[in-house]
Parts: sequence; C-alpha cells; structure tokens
Amino acid sequence: MNDLAGKHLVLGLTGGIAAYKSAELARRLQDHGATVQVVMTEGATHFITAVTMQALTGRPVFCDQWDGRQPNNMAHIDLSREADAIVIVPASTDFIAKLANGLCDDLLTTLCVARACPLLVAPAMNLQMWAHPATQRNAKRIADDGVVVLGPASGDQACGEIGSGRMLEPHEILDDVVAFFQPKLLAGRRVLVTAGPTREPIDPVRAITNHSSGKMGYAVARAAHEAGAVVTLVSGPTGLATPRGVVRIDVDTAREMHAAVMREASSNDCFVAVAAVADWHVLNASDHKLKKVAPDDSGEGEVRGLELRFAENPDILAAVAALPKPPFCVGFAAETEDLHANAEAKLARKRVQMIVGNHATDAFGRDDNALTLYDGHGRTTLERADKLVLARRLVAAIAERMAARSRLPATAAEGTR
Ligand code: C5P
Repeated sequence: MNDLAGKHLVLGLTGGIAAYKSAELARRLQDHGATVQVVMTEGATHFITAVTMQALTGRPVFCDQWDGRQPNNMAHIDLSREADAIVIVPASTDFIAKLANGLCDDLLTTLCVARACPLLVAPAMNLQMWAHPATQRNAKRIADDGVVVLGPASGDQACGEIGSGRMLEPHEILDDVVAFFQPKLLAGRRVLVTAGPTREPIDPVRAITNHSSGKMGYAVARAAHEAGAVVTLVSGPTGLATPRGVVRIDVDTAREMHAAVMREASSNDCFVAVAAVADWHVLNASDHKLKKVAPDDSGEGEVRGLELRFAENPDILAAVAALPKPPFCVGFAAETEDLHANAEAKLARKRVQMIVGNHATDAFGRDDNALTLYDGHGRTTLERADKLVLARRLVAAIAERMAARSRLPATAAEGTR
C-alpha cells in the first residue's frame, strides 16, 4: 500500500531500549511510500547505531547539532522544513520533559522547537517513569500544545516489570501515522459498522455460516476511524485484528448481532451494515452433539437423514432504518446476478440512504473489490482497488452525503435517500 506516498518524515530516535524497533518502523514507513530522514539523540546512539538507520533509510543520519554537512550549517531548520511531520520513536521521559518546556539542548530538541510541521511522539519508558506525576504533567502539556501522543501501551517491559509505558509496536505506530494524514471528514461523528459472517448453530459443534471474510467491514471501520469518527464495530466470527482505535463487540449469531446493533444504533450518526447476515437460523438446533446413526441391520451402511427447520432472522439494517430517529444508513448488496436491479430494489425496500453493490463472487475473501454506490441521486462507480482504498472512498462519499443532509431542514432530511 502506498498510503504515505509523497510524504517526507523526520524519524527522531531518543535514548531507550525500544529504539531497536525504530529500525523496523523506518522500513515499514518506506514500504508505504514515505521518505525517512533519521535524527538521533546522543542517548539513542547507545542503543542502536546510526549506521543501521542510514543503511535502512539510504540517507545520512544526523546526530549532532554542530554537524557541518548542511551547507548553511542549519540542520535544525532545514531538516524540518522539508518534512510533512516529525515522528519521535521512541520518546524518552527526558525528551518529553524537554519538549514540554521548549528546551533546545541538542539537534532533535532544537528541530522540534524550530519546526513548521506536525509532531507525533511515541513514549517508551518504565511504568514508574510513565506514572510519575512530572511525566504525566509533561505528556499532558505537550498534548495541549498540539503534539500527537501515540500510546503508550501496557504490557511486558524490558526491565521485567509489567505495566503502562511500553512503546506501541511498529505496525501500530505505522497505522497511527497513516491515519494522521487522512482527511478528518467524519470528525465529531459516531459510526457503527457490522462486519463478517454470522454463525447459526445446528448443535454445539456444527453451524451454518457463509464465506464472508470480514475484510471489507473491517476496512470500513478503519477508514471511518482514520476520518476522525468514533467507531464501534459489531463483528461476526473472523480471524482479523481489530483496527486501531475501534471498539469491537464480538457476536456469533444474527440475533446476537441484531441485539448488539440495536443497543448502539441510536447513539450513532451513521450505520454501515457490511456484515453478511444469515437470513435464517435453525429452529430445531440441538443442545447436544448430533450423532451419526450406526449402519442399519441390513448391513448396507445407510445413515439416517437430518431434517432442519428454519426461521427468519431479523433484518438488522431495516430495523435500524425504521428507528424514530435513524442514523444515516448504508447497506451492502453482494449479488451474484442482476446487481443493479437488486441494489436499487434494496435501497427502496430497506428505506436506507445508500446501498453499496458488489459482485459476491468477486468480493468474498479477496483483498480487493469494486463497488457501485446507489443513492437517491443515481449510481457512482468505485473502480477495483484494495479494500482499504475503497473503504476510504466510500467513507468520503458517506461524509459528503451526511454533510449535505445535515444542511437540509429536519423534515426534508427525513425524506431524503
Ligand atoms: O436483504 P439482504 O441480505 O440482501 O441485504 C443486505 C444488506 O442488509 C447488508 O447491508 C446486510 O448487512 C444487511 N442485512 C441485515 N440483516 C439481515 C440481512 C441483511 O442487516 N438479516
């Protein structure tokens, strides 16, 4: 993915054992299209060498305020002027204290104070150091000054203790940096998403489910979070990791999904139903494991058949759309034939603001997809792309329509699709 194409980042390393993870981060940032200029404090060089970081980034590393390699001898100005952001990974207790007080006693601190670009810092320290009132005060102060503080996480620490202060993993920092650069089209909005398949039990060890991987729904949840929304994801069984910053509620059956969604729906501004919900559940599900019948007396090895009876599941999307004050509702139509006709019919039948159509055979399990958006004004095609890229385009389309809707008088907005 080229999420960071065209972005130039200054990656600042300060003194802490987590500095070894910055080597991996430098690599991943470049995989996503960024160019990376490393600047290290003297402390950082005790944990990882400038040679390592130079080899990984293909650029000379700057460590010294008095480094004469910049023609004008002003590395502290020049390096940040080219940058789209400075990212400090790891940020030590001492470095955060200096930032909070505007100190400039080495190249990296001076660069931060002289910067004209955003600053993101990932604290990494022992739990007592993080919990210390001075550190908490300093972290709050830099956040109040507009610095983006990433983490820290809780867990095992290099010192052998367990607690808060551990640096986020490189892949988490990468996701946060990518999210930082996404336009905040849904700032202040709350978005509820369903994703994945549902699983309808036949007995305690068997179930009826479908081929949905959950990838599209998880991508929508991630994209909505990147766009600044508070996101709740109600997920059927998938093997996927929860997108960063998203609250996930796990369910199994369609009826559990219905109950979870109905609890959350009225506190959200937008509902995106991506889940492939089972239309029926088994009425005569057994509470004990069903046994194969032994070969009959004739010795021909026949196995007795099994009869299942089904009852319809609630239509979650239609139920949310029928609430007295429904959120902006978006449904998905995964069809194997007649996509346009089926999607248009679904838009009207479920009384939702948008239906997102895709071909079921194309969509399931793959990392890419192609979508057509249907709303009261017609069709929009989103060309085949990675599901996250598509999810960001979909979120932009939803945000635009929500904004247009909120400009309408309330009575007119209720009638809009
Ligand atoms: O009616 P159909 O299953 O074709 O509609 C698909 C859309 O409706 C999807 O957005 C899906 O998440 C949603 N749906 C639902 N509850 C159901 C069935 C479908 O929310 N029981």
